[in-house]
Amino acid sequence: MNILVIGGGAREHSLVWKISQSPRVKELYVAPGNAGTGLIAKNLDIKATDLEALAQAAQGREIDLAVVGPEAPLAAGIVDLFQDRGITIFGPTKEATRIESSKVFAKALMQKYGIPCAKSRSFSSFDDAKGYVKIQKPPIVVKADGLAAGKGSIVSHSTDEALKALSDIMQERIFDSAGDQVLIEECLMGKEVSLLAFTDGKTVVPMVAACDYKRVFDGDQGPNTGGMGSYSPPNFFDEEMTGRVRDTILEPTVRAMAKEGMPYKGVLYAGLMLTQEGPKVLEFNARFGDPENQVMLPRLESDLVEIMLAVIDGTLDKIEIKWSNKACIGVVMASGGYPGSYKIGLPIEGLDRIDKDTIVFHAGTKTRGDKILTDGGRVLTVVASGKTIAEAREKVYSNIPFIHFEGSHFRKDIAARELNLFGF
Ligand code: AMP
Ligand code: GLY
Repeated sequence: MNILVIGGGAREHSLVWKISQSPRVKELYVAPGNAGTGLIAKNLDIKATDLEALAQAAQGREIDLAVVGPEAPLAAGIVDLFQDRGITIFGPTKEATRIESSKVFAKALMQKYGIPCAKSRSFSSFDDAKGYVKIQKPPIVVKADGLAAGKGSIVSHSTDEALKALSDIMQERIFDSAGDQVLIEECLMGKEVSLLAFTDGKTVVPMVAACDYKRVFDGDQGPNTGGMGSYSPPNFFDEEMTGRVRDTILEPTVRAMAKEGMPYKGVLYAGLMLTQEGPKVLEFNARFGDPENQVMLPRLESDLVEIMLAVIDGTLDKIEIKWSNKACIGVVMASGGYPGSYKIGLPIEGLDRIDKDTIVFHAGTKTRGDKILTDGGRVLTVVASGKTIAEAREKVYSNIPFIHFEGSHFRKDIAARELNLFGF
């Protein structure tokens, strides 16, 4: 098969890496990709949001399967466009992607179908939202309705902070039209975990769980980022809990989407808080996680291409999906200054010095001659696995010092909580 992966981050590099191991692959393309994907697939210089150019490239190269990494093309309707042109594509339609692209839609769905989530109200009037915030007890969570690159949810510890978040979103319009509506919701307490599932619209097969780290500094300090690391499996999330989330959240959501006339196919990502009352949804995403994918796909033993085809064909109940028991940790190396402003074009050294079984998934990188240069905020995800979390941690942190680019920084506490290190 000729396969096209859409996107250019470390999530997409991990998709390309896994897909390249499938015996089904003839030619593998990625648009736009990065320096890392260029080593195992053909990079096409097309933006992930240039849907028309992507469709033309797919037709020109006789693509048999397209796989979408990021949310933006899904929300813009890439699946609908490719289907119209007769190109097989993995992912939900534009309408079904609303589960991620509109938090107000997702919340209304959960409320209608009794899917456990934070108590919440939606507003399109700033004054009404303000009045409501004033009578809530902090902490209060203020969320922009639309896509905001993972930055649209603001957990506020005082009323003033929540009012400021509200004004930033609705009046200053820091997330543009994504802030036309907001959710004001109760703050849930507990451990956070991501549980994703493959679904063909009927059958729902949960994957292994993973945790990600959104804040830039150790101990969850500093501003939010696109993700600074992740690990799988979290030891506090067992099979019983996976079954519970499948039964109370994932399956009811897929049934609800079908009932609402927007059948959901692809990956359903549930961001969860494990509260004292049980697991509750923080958010849904309509795709694989970043950086979760970088630690999940190395644990997947089955052929990802076969799984995707079964999702598309509606035969997910006919296949078995196997995962390894190993532990996997991914640590993101970011540019100096990220998530604020940073330099790009800096040479990355030492990639050839790391252990053979340590994987480096590229994100913001590009090649110039025989050099690899930085080209974004999150530059690399360094991934190691082991029999235990302790072994994987030892491996990943002993390899990172070989890799160098000016100003690079990374978190030292990924998965530390599993080992009770640093007191968290
Ligand atoms: P979201 O954009 O909804 O994924 O939220 C981003 C982050 O904000 C989550 O990973 C949580 O850490 C936090 N968050 C979102 N909603 C809530 C909530 N209702 N209670 C507590 N934390 C939340
Ligand atoms: N790791 C968060 C996300 O993929 O949205």
